[in-house]
Amino acid sequence: MATFSPPIRQMNPYLPFGDHRSGPFYGRDILSVGQFSRQDLDYIFGVAHEMREMVERVGTFDLLKGKILANLFYEPSTRTSSSFTSAMERLGGSVIPINEVRYSSVSKGESLPDTVRTLECYVDVIVLRHPEVGASAMAARYARKPIINAGDGVGEHPTQALLDLFTILAELRQVDGLTVTMLGDLKYGRTVHSLARLLSLYQVRLNYVSPDLLRMPREIIDELGQKSVAQAEFTSLDEALPESDVLYVTRVQKERFEDEALYESVKGAFVITPETLTKAKDEMIVMHPLPRVGEISLEVDDDPRAAYFRQMEYGLYVRMALLALVLGKA
Ligand code: ASP
Ligand code: CP
Repeated sequence: MATFSPPIRQMNPYLPFGDHRSGPFYGRDILSVGQFSRQDLDYIFGVAHEMREMVERVGTFDLLKGKILANLFYEPSTRTSSSFTSAMERLGGSVIPINEVRYSSVSKGESLPDTVRTLECYVDVIVLRHPEVGASAMAARYARKPIINAGDGVGEHPTQALLDLFTILAELRQVDGLTVTMLGDLKYGRTVHSLARLLSLYQVRLNYVSPDLLRMPREIIDELGQKSVAQAEFTSLDEALPESDVLYVTRVQKERFEDEALYESVKGAFVITPETLTKAKDEMIVMHPLPRVGEISLEVDDDPRAAYFRQMEYGLYVRMALLALVLGKA
């Protein structure tokens, strides 16, 4: 489990004398959703909302002019890496992309602590995706600059959960009172691990629908149970769908399986089609962190309830907000 850095790096050697930067997130790592309170979320989403307005009005502006971000990705990514790049560039900053560590000194055997201690000589914030649970927390112990967890193996994907929650708020206007149904690979899917934990700050009902092999990890169910979150597990969508306000679909995480035959046995377990949605509420939204590999048929894209493309766009505003906040400019 991730451990957290102090709220503000009191002894930050990079902070020039007399600098006025402040704020609750200045200099902080973003490692796990466990670090956020509801008040924090209101604050972040308020800034994200302003970012959206600014992007719509002027596109790009100079809030982070002169700041540099390192995108350090040990696993593939389209959305997270490119939305962080876009976020930084829309704020006037720049990016060092290390999207294929094969071509960096990692391939010569450099350790993660050494790589982050190298990058922080050149940048102001490091976005890290890594296949091992806890890698971001480990990197944060070595780095003096903020580390943002962009996915640590099957652990967490906190910035995704923030954008997921922002999406729910933007689309449905509230979170309290909603029933959220998570579908697919709940065992290996880090996005649902983070989202379920984040939703536990609200009065929600969570349904977990998965093949038996891919159930939500027991420790997460127990953790949320201790917070009195209403949770139910299903192996079929039939019962859970009609009451759902959000259907959060996930991909079976092929890369986490050691046994390919086992993956083949579960990969097509659920496919959402227009026919599926005839049994859902008219105002329900369908979300997916993406990429999809067959869990939602292409015909669903034309249904106004399909929110997954809008969800990606909201991610830009949330990541702009996070960068501005950790760099003390919001
Ligand atoms: N893109 C998300 C992640 O990196 C979901 C997925 O890959 O299925 O966790
Ligand atoms: N949702 C998400 O993390 O997408 P990528 O894996 O493409 O970054």
